[in-house]
Amino acid sequence: MQINGQNYRSVWFEDGRLKIIDQNKIPFEFEIREYGNYMEVVQAIKDMTVRGAPAIGAAGAFGLALAALYAPEEKFRSYLRSARDELILSRPTAVDLSIGVNYVYESTLKFIPDIEHARQVAVLAANEFANKSEADCLQIGNIGAELIEPGSRILTHCNAGALATVDHGTALSVIRQAHKQGKNIFVYVDETRPRFQGALLTAFELEQEGIPHAIITDSAAGFYFQKKEIDIVITGADRICLNGDIANKIGTYEKAVMAWVHKVPFYIAAPRSTFDFSCAKGEDIPIEVRSEDEIKIIGDTYVANPSSTALNPAFDITPAHYISGIITPKGVFTASEAALKVQL
Ligand code: MRU
Repeated sequence: MQINGQNYRSVWFEDGRLKIIDQNKIPFEFEIREYGNYMEVVQAIKDMTVRGAPAIGAAGAFGLALAALYAPEEKFRSYLRSARDELILSRPTAVDLSIGVNYVYESTLKFIPDIEHARQVAVLAANEFANKSEADCLQIGNIGAELIEPGSRILTHCNAGALATVDHGTALSVIRQAHKQGKNIFVYVDETRPRFQGALLTAFELEQEGIPHAIITDSAAGFYFQKKEIDIVITGADRICLNGDIANKIGTYEKAVMAWVHKVPFYIAAPRSTFDFSCAKGEDIPIEVRSEDEIKIIGDTYVANPSSTALNPAFDITPAHYISGIITPKGVFTASEAALKVQL
């Protein structure tokens, strides 16, 4: 991705340390954080310094590589197991996290008892996972851009951009590619309460690439659907089940139902690491519930009645039948056939 004219990934490994663009600072500051042990990576995932399903998948993979690099030799195996469990538990909904962590864990275990070799393999496996994820997202853009008609007005929810992935994004990879092809698109960006991923991160990424857009409140989408000013909806996902149900940022379900009512196509864009082949249906997806303070307090200021309870589910489930198609690196498939097709 281009930030202030320079090319970046959102997470990468350099000189035995993990580097992450701090998403809690954007768009006001640009800071790169460095991590030398997996416990710090657990914290960065929990506090959303790094966020977005494919991005936390890669961060988790590199977190496990850090654990392998610096684990004491005499308890290498048990140290790695604790690191794996803690990393996976740091956020529950995006399956990319456990897929990335387990990929590195299993690759590394194969090389025990040669521990020095196993440490190197862990770093190689994490880099390989991140590179594959990046390539998947690039391909999603190439494939998905074919769905975008010239002059389209596109609605997106949350941030499914380069920051939320290793690079390029999922929904935003499609949008970037359509823009590069000169399709004269316009993007409606849901602000995405309570963490404002749309207003802060998606808007920042679109602005950096000169893509015309406007931020709208989460409740304004219906207004634009009614005025027939939205031609297509594209979002990312945090987990896709075998039957095509998906989890994504809270509010996605509402947009899907609204698109259905208004006969507007609703697409999900996702890399292979977002498919959970052990999940039969949406009800089986664990939904993260975050602190009520995220709703009641912005910065240091209460924006709600302080003594009221607030409920803060971070994701919701969109049933397969509301989804026009899932854009994957292997093609665009109906929701119900996508898991099978990406596996082949
Ligand atoms: O809570 P977040 O910010 O990690 O949630 C992120 C989303 O819901 C994204 O839409 C999803 O991970 C797809 S990112 C390419």
